[in-house]
Amino acid sequence: MIQVAILGFGVVGGGVAKVLEENAALLRARFQTDVSLKYILDIRDFTGHAMAQRIVRDFSTIEKDPEISVVFEAMGGVHPALEYSLAAIRAHKSVITSNKELVAHHGQLLLREAATAGVRYLFEASVGGGIPIIRPLSDCLAANRVTSVTGIMNGTTNYILTQMEKNGASFSDALSDAQARGYAERDPSADIDGVDTCRKLCILADLAFGYQVDPARVLCEGIRRITEQDISDASDAGYRIKLLGHVRETASGIVPIVAPFFIKKTHILSGVSGVFNGIGVVGNMVGETMFFGHGAGSAPTASAMVGDLIEALERPSTPVGWSDTAPDHFVQDAKTLAFSRYARFVSPTKAQKEAILDAADAVLRDKDGTLSVILKPMDAQTCEVFLASIMPASPESVIRIFVPGEYVPEE
Ligand SMILES: NC(=O)c1ccc[n+]([C@@H]2O[C@H](COP(=O)([O-])OP(=O)(O)OC[C@H]3O[C@@H](n4cnc5c(N)ncnc54)[C@H](OP(=O)(O)O)[C@@H]3O)[C@@H](O)[C@H]2O)c1
Repeated sequence: MIQVAILGFGVVGGGVAKVLEENAALLRARFQTDVSLKYILDIRDFTGHAMAQRIVRDFSTIEKDPEISVVFEAMGGVHPALEYSLAAIRAHKSVITSNKELVAHHGQLLLREAATAGVRYLFEASVGGGIPIIRPLSDCLAANRVTSVTGIMNGTTNYILTQMEKNGASFSDALSDAQARGYAERDPSADIDGVDTCRKLCILADLAFGYQVDPARVLCEGIRRITEQDISDASDAGYRIKLLGHVRETASGIVPIVAPFFIKKTHILSGVSGVFNGIGVVGNMVGETMFFGHGAGSAPTASAMVGDLIEALERPSTPVGWSDTAPDHFVQDAKTLAFSRYARFVSPTKAQKEAILDAADAVLRDKDGTLSVILKPMDAQTCEVFLASIMPASPESVIRIFVPGEYVPEE
């Protein structure tokens, strides 16, 4: 019999328990033995719950039980999830997590400890929920030099942007709707400020490029300032606005960015709507690949975690991941990239308008005192200098335009 424990009996932990119970016969057929959920660690009161007898409050019960071979960590946060995960690994138990914050910040340490202990630290559920992306990237695409990864990795923000486009909703109304449906948390800042996408992008960059990428080094912007007018200008010009995580290789490293982008309606990521996620990986041999599906939710996320159980038991000591910290200058500042940008100005003077048109490739709207243009490609500093030069007509809005494959900074 295989005995396992769950840390955190919330949305994801509850999903893992459900998959283990409902798909018990399927797992028994795979392993030729039963998988038994022996303990659930949680701080809440589960009196009367069908699984109440398995609830424990003290992590050391799990740590010290030699019968437990695999621990599912679904508590979230860094502490005490880090300490519990390290203790479980050092007690020779494989750890399976959905906790992107922990993997993005401490994955290198946890993978190294797991390799030393001869067990697995697995995190398929930490990016893209139920979408297989971690093992495809680390195994199936391993014959490639990955040249870029681009994705919509946060269902909450994608739902908000989709509602704004489909129903003409304001950002705050779309956010309230997402909260009412349980897609956004009461404090939605990690989602809408791009932090969640940034953590996931760093995990994918770690795997694709072999070094731990510190989220603090990634240019990260969210969607708080996107307005109905931005969405409508984008749509009229054949674009949608999407919060993208993007990282590409350069001659001497990589350049990651998380930001809202105009993306052509004809691009496959433009069709990823609502709470769905989509992640594209480009490899030098395979070309373009795309992964799509439910990026969150109890059952999809648990599906990825129980998939990791199979991996942990069938390949118990093959470390997957990255082992080194990135050398200096490996992670480059996305401010060096030259982007075309959408910019909207209100009531520019004649002279300001002339300067704006001189710097523009296309005019999207010139009506009722509003001038919306697509500015010629420029890096962040050149753009700042240009906008400062035409003050006080500072733009109402500036949003980068995504053109696949075109952002190689000058070395
Ligand atoms: N929800 C999703 O769809 C989803 C998808 C992918 C990844 N994730 C990630 O999965 C992790 C869990 O998310 P979730 O949505 O399942 O969270 P959740 O519903 O809040 O569940 C977490 C559970 O762990 C408990 N807990 C917290 N600290 C604990 C501690 N020190 N000891 C014991 N129990 C503790 C919580 O109790 P209290 O409520 O009392 O704090 C709660 O019952 C997070 O890292 C999240 O980012 C979630």
